Amino acid sequence: MRVPPAARKSPPQPSPIRGEGAGSGQWRVIALATTTLVLLGLGSSTHAAEVRDLIKECAFCHGDAGVAKDKDVPHLAGQQRDYLYNQLQAFHSGKRPHKEMRYMSRHMTEQEMRAIADYYASLPPR
Ligand code: HEC
Repeated sequence: MRVPPAARKSPPQPSPIRGEGAGSGQWRVIALATTTLVLLGLGSSTHAAEVRDLIKECAFCHGDAGVAKDKDVPHLAGQQRDYLYNQLQAFHSGKRPHKEMRYMSRHMTEQEMRAIADYYASLPPR
């Protein structure tokens, strides 16, 4: 008697993620891109890499992780997000007068200030 094909022990199926050949990779890229766009659309609009770029020069005074070394420079890490945002706005508009901070914030957009505030607020406080 012949064993029907279904009764033979089949080899383990390749996982559907890896196993579908060239096509599935493309779909995953598209899905990822879509997710990213959706996330961006939802408001955190400035990308993490861009934030790091924006704050490159801040580290000089405010420290790499938002913890300042100089005693006349405030720590930013773990500060309230809204507070940080408001201060950046105030420096930007000149409402809070400070030479260096006015200069540093002179080209910041609304989105960038929000992203920077989010970033420093998310860091562990000293
Ligand atoms: C040249 C040094 C220097 C640089 C560079 C610098 N800051 Fe500052 N920052 C200061 C000082 C000093 C203060 C305190 C201002 C004051 O006395 O009113 C300050 C204040 C702030 C505050 C308000 C903090 C608080 O507790 O009120 C924020 C927010 C801030 N800086 C963000 C930034 C960001 C973001 C950057 C980079 C884009 C930056 N700073 C770059 C020196 C600097």
